[in-house]
Amino acid sequence: MHYAALTFVGMCFKRQLFESCYDSCMQHIEEPYLRHRRARLVRGLQGKILEVGVGTGVNFEHYSTEAQVIGIEPSEQMLQQARLKLERAPAAANITLHPIGCGDPALETMFEPQSLDYVVCTLVLCTIPDPVAAVRQFKKWLKPGGKLIVLEHIRSEKRLSAGVQDFVNPLWKKVAGGCHLNRATHKMIPEQGFLLEREEHFKVGIPFYEAVYSRR
Ligand SMILES: C[S@@+](CC[C@H](N)C(=O)[O-])C[C@H]1O[C@@H](n2cnc3c(N)ncnc32)[C@H](O)[C@@H]1O
Repeated sequence: MHYAALTFVGMCFKRQLFESCYDSCMQHIEEPYLRHRRARLVRGLQGKILEVGVGTGVNFEHYSTEAQVIGIEPSEQMLQQARLKLERAPAAANITLHPIGCGDPALETMFEPQSLDYVVCTLVLCTIPDPVAAVRQFKKWLKPGGKLIVLEHIRSEKRLSAGVQDFVNPLWKKVAGGCHLNRATHKMIPEQGFLLEREEHFKVGIPFYEAVYSRR
């Protein structure tokens, strides 16, 4: 077989492997570091909410029945797992799932400008191919005063650690479903005109970041 075809098959296999192992790989950091943050960020939300790249649906259990959640996720394998979690979610009736991702032209027409109360991004701005374009779109769709909710790993402020992130990133992207280890998401979001309401930096080996931004 041609080398390019072999590489393609290899990449598909790795992506499938990553997606099928996602929950079990994440288990070690979910319970001690992330689950309580997801709950804190999501449980009080009311109104029309876009959750971007829902993955296997780990946030679903935290939404209240006051939330109207539109979840988007381009990977069918992730969506299959998300549908199973949805069955057990208290707000299941208020959560809809759509097989689409940021950058997809069909997403352009899914929302009216200034129609969303919240956009939720957890561990996804690291993976979206063009996060700046995505955040600009979120700003367009959010109502004035609407909130962008973020839980992401980020680029280290320390030169040596950031250098290690840069070095490891090409391999990491291949084995972790397109995730970038080295994005400075905490700097990129305010650069797009969002106002920081609160932020918390923490570490899970690499730097992580929990924040709430509001649209002017
Ligand atoms: C690391 S997982 C995080 C899943 C989930 N948000 C969480 O908190 O566990 C990244 C997710 O982003 C999804 N994704 C990749 N490209 C995307 C895009 N262009 N738009 C939206 N989601 C995307 C992937 O399929 C994957 O499910």
